[in-house]
Amino acid sequence: MRLEDHAVAITGAGGGIGRAVALAFAAEGAGVVAADLGERADAVAEEVRRAGGRAVAVRADVSRSADMRALVERSVREFGGLDVLVTCAGLGTAGLLLEQDESEWTRVIDVNLNGTYRAIRAALPQMIARRRGRIITIASVLGKMGGYGFVSAYVASKHGVVGLTRALASELGSQGYPGITVNAICPGYVRAGMGVATQATKAGPMSGTEIFERYYKRLVPQRRMIEAEEIAHAAVFLALPESAGITGQALNVDGGFVTS
Ligand SMILES: NC(=O)c1ccc[n+]([C@@H]2O[C@H](COP(=O)([O-])OP(=O)(O)OC[C@H]3O[C@@H](n4cnc5c(N)ncnc54)[C@H](O)[C@@H]3O)[C@@H](O)[C@H]2O)c1
Repeated sequence: MRLEDHAVAITGAGGGIGRAVALAFAAEGAGVVAADLGERADAVAEEVRRAGGRAVAVRADVSRSADMRALVERSVREFGGLDVLVTCAGLGTAGLLLEQDESEWTRVIDVNLNGTYRAIRAALPQMIARRRGRIITIASVLGKMGGYGFVSAYVASKHGVVGLTRALASELGSQGYPGITVNAICPGYVRAGMGVATQATKAGPMSGTEIFERYYKRLVPQRRMIEAEEIAHAAVFLALPESAGITGQALNVDGGFVTS
């Protein structure tokens, strides 16, 4: 119960990683505002409550700034403020750059990068007013390296998330808000959500687990997928008061895949 007096808002809370983040923060005593599209938000809030935690659901689309403002208002109303924002909402994509049309590029950038910006833009005034807060973006190891084919829009969006995270940490620290930290988590291949979803590959549709076994496993020193709970643990770690000196970082949780 290390975060009992905290309120956390989570975008994409109904997804594989978002759900684990919601449960982990609730287990530490935090009040959870679980945001996602439609019923996904309701389902995860219900699961947190069934597990004994405090949670409310907000149906919120990261493509809409008004939804992000409503999410923050709900946190203030329910829990008296907003201490932590975790941005988990995201989309995967597949296909070579020339095979995708511009609308697919725009869709992925708009949710993954612009959606992260919109959530932060809505949360920041609350944190600035109280001079404290934790912003935790969920990027990817593909925010630091190129993908192995087929994912240019995704890689570009995640590099953008890492860049936004680093720039904002520097901006806030140097503008007199050292109590607000901004960090990214860069998951490797996770055994949940889009990490296990079926994807189109040149060899036909394949589950994420199969893709990992075939193409990635040999590149990962630990030779295993990451569990969603390990990403959630990293998010809780970054939210703890003892992590106040960590800002502007992009923490890989990837079994040793990427070492920079
Ligand atoms: N699973 C992995 O292997 C992996 C690896 C690296 C990074 N990530 C990142 O982690 C985050 C979570 O991914 P996941 O694996 O849990 O996938 P997921 O598909 O299970 O979860 C993504 C969630 O985002 C929500 N979402 C999509 N568009 C939205 C929008 N416009 N507004 C609000 N919510 C929206 C979806 O409804 C879904 O619940 C993503 O940003 C993803 O890029 C995942």
